[in-house]
Amino acid sequence: MKFLIVNGPNLNMLGIREPEVYGSMTYEELVYFLHEQAVALGVEIEVFQSNCEGEIVNEIQRAYRRIDGIIINPAAYTHTSIAILDALKAVSIPAAEVHLSDVTKREEFRQVSYAGMACEFHFIGEGKQGYINAMKALKEKLEAAH
Ligand code: DQA
Repeated sequence: MKFLIVNGPNLNMLGIREPEVYGSMTYEELVYFLHEQAVALGVEIEVFQSNCEGEIVNEIQRAYRRIDGIIINPAAYTHTSIAILDALKAVSIPAAEVHLSDVTKREEFRQVSYAGMACEFHFIGEGKQGYINAMKALKEKLEAAH
């Protein structure tokens, strides 16, 4: 079972950007944690980060017929990108949305999630654990389907 984990703009700045919102964990530490937890869960992962919307769309398209589940934190593109929503719908791979912070309690402009409209699962405000809960939810769903 292979999952693609996609992280959007500025998540490479974790540990530096707004630590009062996102904490002190660096992006490298997050990626290390994800690989460790994937091994523990018995799933394979690919982790991709980009600050560019089109590159995220390309990566989602590349997942077609290759990847069993997508876990996506589109960061700021969550609230703006219909292209990412359309890409998720196009490949029709089961998907989970993750946000480190609790966007529901933040600014008004963060209250819409386009990408989330193509996701079956949502883990919001659970920090790095959200990614693990997303892996577990997708794994259970895929196992139930077999
Ligand atoms: C975020 C929330 C977004 O609103 C923000 O633009 C981000 C990170 C989160 O993980 O909490 O960059 O997706």
